[in-house]
Amino acid sequence: MYGETPSAPARHAAGVFRAAQARDVLELGTGHGRDALHFAREGFIVQATDFSPAGLQQLEDTARDQGIEQRVTTVVHDVRDPLPLPDASVDAVFAHMLLCMALSTKEIHAAVAEVQRVLRPGGVFVYTVRHTGDAHYGAGIPHGDDIYEHGGFAVHFFGRDLVDALADSWNLTEVHAFEEGDLPRRLWRISQALPR
Ligand SMILES: C[S@@+](CC[C@H](N)C(=O)[O-])C[C@H]1O[C@@H](n2cnc3c(N)ncnc32)[C@H](O)[C@@H]1O
Repeated sequence: MYGETPSAPARHAAGVFRAAQARDVLELGTGHGRDALHFAREGFIVQATDFSPAGLQQLEDTARDQGIEQRVTTVVHDVRDPLPLPDASVDAVFAHMLLCMALSTKEIHAAVAEVQRVLRPGGVFVYTVRHTGDAHYGAGIPHGDDIYEHGGFAVHFFGRDLVDALADSWNLTEVHAFEEGDLPRRLWRISQALPR
């Protein structure tokens, strides 16, 4: 659905991660791994997670075809559960269009707390979400908590207050508005770092 080429946010994040001297990258909600594969090709050691095993299998097959399987591992993981990683064990985390899935505000806060737990001091988190300026915000079936279902697909649209709350005790370095796809989807790319 999202193509084979890396997303623009992943290309940007690779530069952010490199500037932060990151080595170990965790991707949440990788899908079939277009961005995890990009990070691996860029030389990072990548752990890619999603709750869909089918996408992860495709990612592994492609990594083998591209000769980068040594640098990518996959884990089936539902972001509503604690991350299966030790404290302070990765340098950077990336999540493109995951936190705006059908997750409650409470679940989103818990997921970001887990990201904070597994990042090393100075670690960086780059994520993207659809926001309340999106054409589908307020359209379709309302599920409460800023979640709207459109065409069988439920999205949690982020307001700026939620972004700021999720950056509490982090250094929020960027909230960048961009568009993707035909609708177009209106998103924010958010970068935040833990204090060293
Ligand atoms: C909009 S897609 C984006 C996929 C990928 N990040 C990309 O840009 O190509 C959202 C992804 O999140 C995954 N996902 C949705 N809810 C999830 C959850 N609760 N836990 C883990 N993954 C989830 C879906 O399986 C899907 O692969």
